[in-house]
Amino acid sequence: MIVFTNKTKIQDHIFNLKTKGITFGFVPTMGALHKGHLSLVERALEENNICVVSIFVNPTQFDNVEDLKKYPRTLEKDVSLLQTVSKNILIYAPSVEDIYEGNTKAESFTFDGLEFEMEGKFRQGHFNGVATIVKRLFEIVTPNNAYFGEKDFQQLTIIKKLVTKYNIPVIVNGCSIYREETGLAYSSRNQRLKPDYKLAAPFIFKTLTAAKKKFGTKSAKQVTEWVEKQFAANTFLELEYFEIADITTLKTVKRKSKSKSYRAFVAAYAGDIRLIDNIAMK
Ligand code: PAJ
Repeated sequence: MIVFTNKTKIQDHIFNLKTKGITFGFVPTMGALHKGHLSLVERALEENNICVVSIFVNPTQFDNVEDLKKYPRTLEKDVSLLQTVSKNILIYAPSVEDIYEGNTKAESFTFDGLEFEMEGKFRQGHFNGVATIVKRLFEIVTPNNAYFGEKDFQQLTIIKKLVTKYNIPVIVNGCSIYREETGLAYSSRNQRLKPDYKLAAPFIFKTLTAAKKKFGTKSAKQVTEWVEKQFAANTFLELEYFEIADITTLKTVKRKSKSKSYRAFVAAYAGDIRLIDNIAMK
């Protein structure tokens, strides 16, 4: 395991190994690693010789300065955790300067409207920031495969679009959501939940599961209204949005079609912590 902080150094290292036929899987992260991240790393190691993990809290994807400030930064702990997984891991933990070279700004992207749905409505400029950093990281790491969690399904869909639009030679793989026993999806933000909110948070997945069941016999509108009512009665969680959307366009379903696939998406606040989750409706 080597920890790189400089893009030229990791680029040279990877280039040399690639000439020997070594394959690379890539897991971009913002650190504060948990079992959800590790499930991606393990899959990358199964399908490639080496897994590169980037750890970088990307300032340009935060629309909220407080959220950026409070985002957990636990590099030493993250490195020790990855050491327990495999020695075939390279870590890239750059500084803001190494990535942005004095110009900490997001580029502007369009993704056929995917960027205006759900998270795009509530987090101004978020996907421009995500696309900027992921495109740069792809250029530095040049992986054969990249792994993204379905936890951030809209992000995964947008990254697939980014790669097609810019002809980036990488295969983007989606990985299923890793959950705690309570059903709560692992998230770096969970460690900031106060005990009452931690106890309340599994309600999100419970409600998603019940919504999925109801969607068998009820319309998207009926299910949405039912979910909104459940959240309104919950004193710990404040719903930001619930939507059942087409998995390709991410647009809200108006009328169900058997030939299409849908997912239900939730964003909710547990105190001042914003949590997101989603579930396949089939
Ligand atoms: P971060 O939130 O650290 O997540 C890194 C990757 O882990 C993402 O692909 C995310 O979907 C995945 N992930 C998080 N929790 C998961 C869970 N419970 N189960 C499965 N996968 C999970 O997403 C980002 O960072 C950033 O936006 C990034 C892509 C690194 C760009 O800055």
